[in-house]
Amino acid sequence: METFRRWVPLITVICSCLFLQRLVALRLMAARPAQANPNLRRFIKATLIVTSLWLAAGLPILMEVHFRWMPADLVGFLLAASLFWICLIVSAAIWSGCLQHAETFHPDRRRFLALGAPVAAAPLAIAGYGAYLARTSMVQEQVDLHLPNLHPDLNGLRIVQLTDIHFGPFFGPAELRRAIGMANEYKPHLIFLTGDLVTRRGDNMEGCLQLLRGLKAEAGIYGCHGNHEIYAEALDYATTQGARYGFHFLRQRAALLRFGQARLNLAGFDYQPLHSPYLTGAESLIVPGAANLLLQHNPDTFPRAAQAGFDVTLSGHTHGGQINVEILHENLSAARFFTPFVRGLYERDRKLVYVSSGLGTVAMPVRLGVPPEVSLLRLCAT
Ligand SMILES: [Fe+2]
Repeated sequence: METFRRWVPLITVICSCLFLQRLVALRLMAARPAQANPNLRRFIKATLIVTSLWLAAGLPILMEVHFRWMPADLVGFLLAASLFWICLIVSAAIWSGCLQHAETFHPDRRRFLALGAPVAAAPLAIAGYGAYLARTSMVQEQVDLHLPNLHPDLNGLRIVQLTDIHFGPFFGPAELRRAIGMANEYKPHLIFLTGDLVTRRGDNMEGCLQLLRGLKAEAGIYGCHGNHEIYAEALDYATTQGARYGFHFLRQRAALLRFGQARLNLAGFDYQPLHSPYLTGAESLIVPGAANLLLQHNPDTFPRAAQAGFDVTLSGHTHGGQINVEILHENLSAARFFTPFVRGLYERDRKLVYVSSGLGTVAMPVRLGVPPEVSLLRLCAT
């Protein structure tokens, strides 16, 4: 089911782009400059063939198959370039439609084109803004987690959550150092890393872990793994190497921490694939009388975590939708097709889940309406 959900949107986008770019190419070839220049016509035709082959075969293969000879950064750039190409085609198709409409129907051609130009440029301009400005404009998000029966010694406990770093060409050392500085500013008691340190096989997990050693938390740094640690085949490496650097990745186990007279039970599970039987055996990790927190990359597990007895679940995975449009106080984001828990704090039966928007990006290196965040969560007695 997860594969189906992952591929259906991609195939839809690719088919639409193939249709649109053929439309644009035909339109360009029919234009006067191309009619007068056979070389230009040949160039347009060749570009159409190459890009169509790339979109129909190259792109899906690149997304699915790992070529060991190909540097991971190059894969990232090729994916990003493909998605920007799709935006360019959408812009070109809109502009081509405007031209045709103006020539065929519109008497005031100039005025119509003046109106059409910004509409046509919008997809490319928005993608450019999301890639170069919004993508790295990090924010500090502060959220109070109000818990019934919280032990007074846990009241005010400061937790920083960092998630979905996707360390690589689009979230590199400079950005990560900045996020680490923002995290340390909070002087947290605990820091949680909730998955997706990197994106794919060949990514520099060691470099990411080395930089994360700059994090400072007086009671320790704990984490769980995301789906991209699985894709990167880095579950064991991140766990063992992370342990050398002082990071405790919790894999189907829990750690009991003490703060004064209070106990805080911290459990973690590896990424739980969508709609699989979630958190098998979670009940056995609950400690009665303690505050029970769960680190789980996938927020869709929240109802199951709440049922098992976890007071708080901390998740990421959705990137807050990565691209979010707010219309009349309604958030429109593709992530809503996958889970109702897209971004922020949710409550069910006095249990909580916080879904951080994370720091990095996947696929297209663009963020819109969802800034990368360093989250500070404070435990508060109700
Ligand atoms: Fe992610």
